[in-house]
Amino acid sequence: MAKILLAGGAGYIGSHTAVELLNAGYEVVAADNYCNSSPEAIRRVEEITGKPVQLYEADIRDSERLSQIFRENKIDAVIHFAGLKAVGESVKKPLMYYRNNIDTTLTLLETMQAADVRNIIFSSSATVYGEENPVPYKETMQRGVCTNPYGWTKAMMEQIFEDAARADPSLSVVLLRYFNPIGAHPSGRIGEDPLGIPNNLMPYVTQVAVGKRECLTIFGSDYPTKDGTCMRDYIHVVDLAKGHVKAVAYILQHSGTEVFNLGTGTPYSVTEIVETFERVNGIKVKHVYGDRRAGDLPEFYANADKAKALLGWQAEYTLDDMCRDAWNWQKQNPDGYRSSD
Ligand code: NAD
Ligand code: UD1
Repeated sequence: MAKILLAGGAGYIGSHTAVELLNAGYEVVAADNYCNSSPEAIRRVEEITGKPVQLYEADIRDSERLSQIFRENKIDAVIHFAGLKAVGESVKKPLMYYRNNIDTTLTLLETMQAADVRNIIFSSSATVYGEENPVPYKETMQRGVCTNPYGWTKAMMEQIFEDAARADPSLSVVLLRYFNPIGAHPSGRIGEDPLGIPNNLMPYVTQVAVGKRECLTIFGSDYPTKDGTCMRDYIHVVDLAKGHVKAVAYILQHSGTEVFNLGTGTPYSVTEIVETFERVNGIKVKHVYGDRRAGDLPEFYANADKAKALLGWQAEYTLDDMCRDAWNWQKQNPDGYRSSD
């Protein structure tokens, strides 16, 4: 069975993808510098699956170290999760974001070329559709104007991949545009473990529920949506991970560059998320309605037809499942991977 390198594999989406790849029979090698993760996540991937992961502590910008990984393992495809992802931080530290995110991509592509590894799947984001495109977003739309440096790094990296594949027809690229991944593995053993105050909605909700934060502020209640709060296409992280397994099968059979949205196609409002979380888990989440957050769009969601048609993939978990599994992870691991076993 093919061997897959997960760059940034100890992170939230990488660890869930490792589980699904191992369950599908693939061999997994993971490389991470743990700047936003812990090797404990990979230990738990091995525990969940009963299968080993070859784990390297490595900075993906270190070409010597990457070359060593490619020498020691015959890699069939790479999935590139490694990057910084906090939107607000990217506004304050743009150079750090451009340096880390663009350099990881360039170094990966260069060392892959030298090692004759021809297949790469990239973690992109719905944020590349920008502010102007109408919803639902379709892969045929042009990339738009991003609202922050994080988003621009994703748009620039997509361009880099497209140019590299155009120049080298033996290189195959799949760009996956994630919508809003939430939830955790149903076992509650792996999940999202943000450092410090969460930027994203669901970890904030679960931290209020577990008593780590006082109160959720819902950013804006005067948007032109059905209840005045923003609407997003939330997707269970296990569904997202399974999308990567399908993308691996696809890239091993096809050449060229292909872009896929990974979303459910159904948007929910912030108020619906809070109400569903409270109902499914029988727990109150203290919240207040506050000002809008700069850069937030009223509503975006995927047209998910292309992934269904070409990858044979569609999301299966419901919003109830997402809320249940997010809470199951948080209550079992109140301090994330720092919680004692
Ligand atoms: P994460 O922070 O949990 O995972 C990223 C991993 O990359 C971390 O383990 C981090 O330590 C590692 N990393 C970062 N820079 C590195 C470097 N130079 N060398 C080695 N390792 C490095 O984030 P995630 O939520 O799992 O996201 C994975 C990818 O998906 C990211 O590229 C992110 O931008 C993208 N994405 C995430 C979301 C989301 O909502 N979570 C949405 C769209 C796109
Ligand atoms: C954000 C990023 C996006 C990135 C994605 C994953 C912005 C503008 N966009 O998406 O580029 O790919 O995260 O990292 O930051 N909310 C609250 N209260 C909170 C937190 C969030 O009301 O404390 C609301 C937001 O206004 C939004 C929704 O919840 O409407 C989801 O927010 P979030 O989880 O941060 O995701 P996005 O903003 O959609």
